[in-house]
Amino acid sequence: MTRHLGLLMNRFLLVPFSLGLTQLAMNKSNLINGFCAEHRWASAVILGFIGSCISAVVGWKSVQAPLQFIYSCFLKPLGYHGHNQQDRLESFYQDQADVYDATRGGLLRGRKTMLKLCAAQLKQQASAIKSDEDLVWIDIGGGTGWNIERMNTYYPIEKFHKVYLIDLTPSLCRIARERFQRRGWNNVVVLCEDAASFTLPGIDDMSGKVGMITMSYSLSMIDNFFPVIDRIQKLLAPKGIFGIADFYVSGKSPSPAEKLSGSQNRQCSWLTRFFWQIWFDFDHINLGPGRRDYVEYKFGTLKCLNARNHFIVPYLVQIPYYIWLGCSLERPDEDRSWDIDIPGSSGSSVVESPPGSVSGRQTRMEFSKPALQTRSSSFDYQARPWRLPYDPSLPCHTQFRSYIYAFTWEDPRVDLEYLDLTESDTMFVITSAGDNAIEYAIKARPQRIHCVDMNPCQNHLLELKLASIKSLEFEDFWKMFGEGRNPQFETLLHDFISPNLSSHALQYWSHNSDRFSHKFYKTGYSGLALTLVEWWIKMQGLQKDVHDMCHAETIEEQKRIWNEKIRPAIFSPMIRKVLNNPMFMWNALGVPMNQMNMFLKDGTTQQYIEDTLEPIPSRSLFRNDQYFFYLCMMQKYTRESCPSYLTEEGFKTLKETNATDAFRLHTDSIVNVLQSMPDKYLTRMIVMDHMDWFSPETNELEQEIIEMARVTQPNGRVYWRSAGKYPWYNDLFVKHGFEVTPLGIRESGHSIDRVNMYSSFYMAVRS
Ligand SMILES: C[S@@+](CC[C@H](N)C(=O)[O-])C[C@H]1O[C@@H](n2cnc3c(N)ncnc32)[C@H](O)[C@@H]1O
Ligand SMILES: *[C@@H]1O[C@H](CO)[C@@H](O)[C@H](O)[C@H]1NC(C)=O
Ligand SMILES: *[C@@H]1O[C@H](CO)[C@@H](O)[C@H](O)[C@H]1NC(C)=O
Ligand SMILES: *[C@@H]1O[C@H](CO)[C@@H](O)[C@H](O)[C@H]1NC(C)=O
Repeated sequence: MTRHLGLLMNRFLLVPFSLGLTQLAMNKSNLINGFCAEHRWASAVILGFIGSCISAVVGWKSVQAPLQFIYSCFLKPLGYHGHNQQDRLESFYQDQADVYDATRGGLLRGRKTMLKLCAAQLKQQASAIKSDEDLVWIDIGGGTGWNIERMNTYYPIEKFHKVYLIDLTPSLCRIARERFQRRGWNNVVVLCEDAASFTLPGIDDMSGKVGMITMSYSLSMIDNFFPVIDRIQKLLAPKGIFGIADFYVSGKSPSPAEKLSGSQNRQCSWLTRFFWQIWFDFDHINLGPGRRDYVEYKFGTLKCLNARNHFIVPYLVQIPYYIWLGCSLERPDEDRSWDIDIPGSSGSSVVESPPGSVSGRQTRMEFSKPALQTRSSSFDYQARPWRLPYDPSLPCHTQFRSYIYAFTWEDPRVDLEYLDLTESDTMFVITSAGDNAIEYAIKARPQRIHCVDMNPCQNHLLELKLASIKSLEFEDFWKMFGEGRNPQFETLLHDFISPNLSSHALQYWSHNSDRFSHKFYKTGYSGLALTLVEWWIKMQGLQKDVHDMCHAETIEEQKRIWNEKIRPAIFSPMIRKVLNNPMFMWNALGVPMNQMNMFLKDGTTQQYIEDTLEPIPSRSLFRNDQYFFYLCMMQKYTRESCPSYLTEEGFKTLKETNATDAFRLHTDSIVNVLQSMPDKYLTRMIVMDHMDWFSPETNELEQEIIEMARVTQPNGRVYWRSAGKYPWYNDLFVKHGFEVTPLGIRESGHSIDRVNMYSSFYMAVRS
């Protein structure tokens, strides 16, 4: 007992010890700077200390976790009885085998998600792995068999040819056997053996034949992990999947694999690394980064999520854990017909194809940054061709924590009128929320649509739309992007959408799954604007009038409500004053200075806003056509008033044809993407209003236009909108070999499209 107490003391001494160490470290001037900047160290230590005390006290008293669990975990650490690993494990688990499952729910988080992601992947591949008859699953360190029973709800156990549970602890194996006997699963076999050396009874060699291998919270427990990982690599079928859920701590600096698989939330603070590693070390559990690094070195990454377990005391105790899905490094990709994407050879736009671009991997490199080319990244194992590789750790990407636009604020109907799109077109568009690009795909099915955005989140959003269309039923999809609310989103994401998403997008949406829990269109920066409008409508007591206007049956009715109720409220003297203050535009609406200067050349801010809004109620009905402003006022779409991809027909076109194969999502700057493209490659470019943001004082924009001129083929066209009626940069297009034509110039009282936000719409044709 005294020895137990000693060990317990050791554990809790860790906390004051780390406090002392931190102080010592803080004495170094560089850390004092860090401290002053954020107070992170001190607060982390203090919170950690309080947290541990509370968890020690509350854990005993009110949490009511079975005493046996606490006894075994805190008082009777592993490694105490006997020196052989099996004896050690048995002595640790024997008293708690019966309560194991009941006590592990909160501690071993991520297991369900890991199983769901595996099941979704299996379903996706069901046709590829000849048939379910051959499907073998090995759960290594499977303990009481909880995983296997759970899996049955995601992927029926009867569908597996054989399931093997390997575990070294006899008392846990006993529980597992009883469990499977109860369920009557004859295809499940429990083997009480060491993970490094187990043999499957009656089978000589399973090399390259196992369809799925999982390890939940066992990799960190296995001392001799190298042979285990090597073994798994041998066993795994070419299309097999390897799933892990486990605790971890990151290394001091980002691991090399992070660039390849996405690193959201992966890095741990110094204190976290130090504290949890030592804490778990008492139980012979090793959280160091070595295991994870080795796994990522030996396998390709399909999916990877990092999270924190707020076990016991929320937000004070945070144990880092991860979920990872991998595959063989040489995963065959013969089913990726989309791979053959030789720039320049698509459709009739061929001029010349760059030498050597034959295979998919090479081709995608044509469009990616050199830094990523040395090793296959998770992008190489995507089921879908959409997302092109990028390095998420670059500051130009990490500056964005959310998407700016949750919806696209330009009218695609007017675009399509002037675009003359055909199936042989190769387009270049700015991603934004992807709505317009999707509209072009529905209406004209161009050969290729390159969507470009520096903000990874905009591309995550478009990728989510594409993957959801391919994976979900219309009703679930409608709830997400029509109503902006789908309480089932997280389940849908893991169970259905995940196989069709890149690891990066999955990470983003797993961390932000609450975006669909209330009103999706009130998220992102555009969501702030919608919130502002909503608040203003409430303040003015106009809810009913706005609602009536949005559902009016005739234009006359719409105009009447607008003129009588809404217009006077918008253009009140007070609002006029605010709008005419340039600082308001700049700060509150995020209109960049350069762009503002452009419209101030043509008139006042207030004039600009009147010209935008005034013609809207007389153009078309909010109820069934004007979905842009309907969304702004109601924060959602209706079945009648929505973009085409949210109609059943549009959804069906996208789901059932190959229209979405056209998409390529580039996370990079416009000029970089243009530079990666061969001469005369593009036929259509739509660059929205982004050129307004450049300063006329520098030649940055000219560089970009020179690239546009190089990449567009003769008779190819570039389209843009501007806040100015006659943008200064039109001359640059003329200078570099384009003929510029205005397609619409807004005059007071007349709209040029349904959004009517810009003063002009132009087209340049390459001579
Ligand atoms: C924390 S438990 C996790 C059990 C189960 N996978 C779960 O998620 O509930 C870790 C398991 O790994 C097993 N284990 C540890 N070292 C092992 C080894 N060398 N070979 C096989 N199993 C081992 C232990 O017996 C224990 O059941
Ligand atoms: C910090 O440094 C000062 C001298 O620079 C020393 O007197 C003090 O004891 C140090 N504190 C710790 C905790 O080491
Ligand atoms: C992914 O998309 C394809 C359509 O190309 C679809 O057949 C498949 O079912 C989707 N995956 C899942 C898990 O829904
Ligand atoms: C769709 O399939 C047709 C016929 O196989 C093909 O010509 C076309 O290029 C494909 N479209 C896309 C976008 O891949």
